[in-house]
Amino acid sequence: MKAIVLQRSLDSKIQFVTLPKPVCQTNEVLIRIKAAALNHRDEWCRKGLYPNIQDGIVLGSDGAGIVEEVGAAVDPKLIGQEVMLNPALHWGDNEKAQGKNFEIIGMPRNGTFAEYVAVPADRVFPKPSHLSWEEAAALPLAGLTAYRAVAVQGKLKAGEQVLITGIGGGVAQFAAQFVLALGAKLFVSSSSGEKRAAALALGASEAFDYGVDNWSAAALESSGGMDLIVDGASGDTLSQLMNIAKPGGRLVFYGATRGNPPQLEARKLFWNQLQLIGTTMGTDQDFAEMLALVDRLQLKPRIDAVFPLNEAALALDRMKEGIQFGKIVLIP
Ligand SMILES: NC(=O)c1ccc[n+]([C@@H]2O[C@H](COP(=O)([O-])OP(=O)(O)OC[C@H]3O[C@@H](n4cnc5c(N)ncnc54)[C@H](OP(=O)(O)O)[C@@H]3O)[C@@H](O)[C@H]2O)c1
Repeated sequence: MKAIVLQRSLDSKIQFVTLPKPVCQTNEVLIRIKAAALNHRDEWCRKGLYPNIQDGIVLGSDGAGIVEEVGAAVDPKLIGQEVMLNPALHWGDNEKAQGKNFEIIGMPRNGTFAEYVAVPADRVFPKPSHLSWEEAAALPLAGLTAYRAVAVQGKLKAGEQVLITGIGGGVAQFAAQFVLALGAKLFVSSSSGEKRAAALALGASEAFDYGVDNWSAAALESSGGMDLIVDGASGDTLSQLMNIAKPGGRLVFYGATRGNPPQLEARKLFWNQLQLIGTTMGTDQDFAEMLALVDRLQLKPRIDAVFPLNEAALALDRMKEGIQFGKIVLIP
C-alpha cells in the first residue's frame, strides 16, 4: 500500500513509500482509507518536537473509510461498513486525565496517511450520514479536543460570553461551532481579515485581530469581558487573554503553537479569581457526546483544502504556515 512515513533525514521530513498492507490482529479491523486529515501533531512530528517519535512510522491520526477485514474476535458484520475512527487509545479509568498508557494513532503506532490502517475494533464508529468522507475524516481528533475544551473542562453554560482564539485552526473551528450550538455568545480572534469576516458571517458577535498592539483592551471594552476563553496558541498572547477574562473567568488551553508564555502575571490571576485549565483530547464518553451533538445539529467540519496523499508535504507546509481555515485533508 502507499503511505506517508516520518523520515527526518529528508528535507521534507516525510517520505511517500510502498509498505505491506497491515495485518489485522485478533481485536482489530482493517480500514480502507477514503480520506485522512492533518493535525498539528503531524507537524510537531516532522519538527522532532513530539515525544517518542520514530522514523518509518505512518503519520496521521484522523481517518474515515470502509472496513475491509476483521480480526478473529471481531463481529464480521462490520465488514463493508463506512466508519470513522477515534484516534485516542487507552485513556484509562480517570475521567479527569488520561493514564500513562494513553496513546494516539499515528505515532508511535502506524496512522492514517495510507491506503489502509488497522485499529482496535472499539475505535471505529459509523460515519455520520450527513458528512462526506473528507468531513468525516476531519472530525475526530479536533472535534474531540474542542468538545472537551468547551463543554467538559470549560463547563460552558448557555448565555456565557466565549472567546475562541485563532479561528483558522482545526480545533478552533469546532470549538466555535460547539459554543454556538450550546447557546453561548461567540467571540473569535484571528490574524486574518478574511477569516474574521467569515467567522462573523457564521455567527460570531465580534472578531478581534490579535496582531494589533493592545487588542485586548479594545476587546474588553467592546465585549464587556469573557466568561470562558479557549486557546491553542499560548505564547505571549496569554497575558492579553488574561486581560479579557471577566473576574472569575476560565481560560482553557489545549496547545502551545506559539510556545511558552514569557511571563505569567500572578497578581492578575489571583486577584481576578481566574482559572487556568489544561485539556487534552478526551475520554470515550466525551467522544460519544461530541458525535451526538454533531449528529443532532448536523454540524459540519470546515474543510480548508484537499490534497492527494503523494502531496502530503505541501499539505503539511500549508498547516505549518498557519494559512488554513479549517481542516486539511489527504486522499490516498
Ligand atoms: N491537547 C490536545 O489534545 C491537542 C489537540 C489538537 C491540537 N493541539 C495543539 O493545539 C494547537 C492548535 O492545533 P490545531 O490542529 O487546531 O492547529 P492549526 O490548525 O495548525 O492552528 C493554527 C492556527 O493557530 C492560530 N494562531 C497562531 N498564532 C496565534 C496566536 N498568537 N493567537 C491565537 N491564535 C494563533 C492561527 O489562527 P489564525 O489564522 O486565525 O490567526 C492558525 O491558523 C497546536 O499546537 C496543536 O499541537 C492539542
